[in-house]
Amino acid sequence: MVKLAASSKKAILVLDFGSQYNQLIVRRVRELGVYAELVTPEEADQAASRLHVQGWILSGGPSSVFAEGAPTIPEFIISSETPILGICYGMQAIAHQLGGKVRNGEKGEYGSARISIMKGYSLTDGLPEESSCWMSHGDSVLEMPPGFVHLAFTDTVPYAAMARGSIYGVQFHPEVSHTPFGKRLIRNFLTICGSDCLWSPDDLVDESIAMIRERVGESSAICAVSGGVDSTVAAVIAGKALGERLHCVFVNNGLLRHQEVEKVSEALGCVLKGSFSLIDASSRFITALAGVVDPEEKRRRIGETFIRVFEEKARTIDGLKYLIQGTLYPDVIESRGRGTHGARIKTHHNVGGLPELMELSVLEPLNFLFKDEVRRVGKDLGIPSYLLERQPFPGPGLAVRITGEVTEERLAVLRQADAITVEEIERAGRHNLWQFFPVYVPLNTVGVMGDQRTYCHLIALRIVTSEDGMTCDWARLPWDLLDLISRRIVNEVKGINRVVYDITSKPPATIEWE
Ligand code: XMP
Repeated sequence: MVKLAASSKKAILVLDFGSQYNQLIVRRVRELGVYAELVTPEEADQAASRLHVQGWILSGGPSSVFAEGAPTIPEFIISSETPILGICYGMQAIAHQLGGKVRNGEKGEYGSARISIMKGYSLTDGLPEESSCWMSHGDSVLEMPPGFVHLAFTDTVPYAAMARGSIYGVQFHPEVSHTPFGKRLIRNFLTICGSDCLWSPDDLVDESIAMIRERVGESSAICAVSGGVDSTVAAVIAGKALGERLHCVFVNNGLLRHQEVEKVSEALGCVLKGSFSLIDASSRFITALAGVVDPEEKRRRIGETFIRVFEEKARTIDGLKYLIQGTLYPDVIESRGRGTHGARIKTHHNVGGLPELMELSVLEPLNFLFKDEVRRVGKDLGIPSYLLERQPFPGPGLAVRITGEVTEERLAVLRQADAITVEEIERAGRHNLWQFFPVYVPLNTVGVMGDQRTYCHLIALRIVTSEDGMTCDWARLPWDLLDLISRRIVNEVKGINRVVYDITSKPPATIEWE
């Protein structure tokens, strides 16, 4: 991973103690106009030398300070003059390491709590005296370390917030929306840190262009584009850096949606101009998938075919040394693999495996940005909304939306059902949906059409709301809209006699069916 080195770059560093909300803390700080990164305690030292740290936020986490191997605050952070805000476990760690006492809670406190807040402190400036806050903890602070004053209490927690100099601790979670004054509290902390709140994700564009130019030098780079927002924004930034030495390749794998090849090629051709090329490898992918029913084997074969197609393209380009990828910050954080998400649920791939096989170095110009920030950058770069607002679409395409074997006939059926679903939902106004698509289930069920008995396959509709795809809820769409989609699919798509609606959230289900 290429880091954007700039020691004068001001930042708030969020020390990752393993909280489920840790990415949210970073997002909140950035929304307030201050650059923030999430770092593990082991990385803290290195990150602090790379950036101009204006403040530290210590995240919550699942541990107890009494547990063996519980994470601790590195000594250099405590002894620095830099302001510190400890949240939940972060506050307990401050108390424990500075000579206070932490209560080993037998009963945790989870959910909303009433809170009373003391006035007259920088951190509580402008906060209400009485409010609600979000709690999610087992342990809590029983005795504050010497010199601390307490800034807030609840019925169950005497020290819901505390301070000494520029070291602060809060037991509740200001980063979640269930703490109504949370954003104001974080803004107060940023003021304490002396932040100017002028950062915007666009600041990264110039840095990324400079980074790509420096790394690639006189050689050239290839970028796999899919028409998705991430790869498009990465390609546009790389194009600004490299001009004609960038080669953007869109592979038709035969697993795309109705008219997707044409529409995406046209849009990307306009945006990426001469650097764009389309490779039609559809028959290779379909042949590779013949007879395969296992979802992981499908992904493996699709990944391998992508590699072959890319290798062949790469051989035609002189001096090719780099691969540009649109990897986002959450992918970087998740793939650090701190054990919390260790189990492999599905093999996701963005043409994974390419660099090793092709001996290419990877450059990831978006690897410090979240999805909504990438959309914003893309908008400011003038990328058309058709590309920016497309719903996420998996690399293995429709292959993971057909349970069982993938055949041309099934793909044709699914494309038709997909086009109807998209048309009706877009006509109805999208409803803030994350994704909306049909899944082809080759399971025979009985129906009756006209006076004829039918015995054919079914379509399941997967329509979800989500913030980031990590979790999701099924969308409560108006019945009439679902009814319309169902009728149209059964009436218009040959071979389908039944439509079902998937009403499972993630977890326990996943968004895609495979
Ligand atoms: P799941 O099914 O894991 O999906 O809940 C979460 C998000 O990831 C997308 N997805 C993929 N994207 N390659 C990709 O590039 C894949 O193999 C893949 N599988 C799922 C999915 O569409 C959803 O947005």
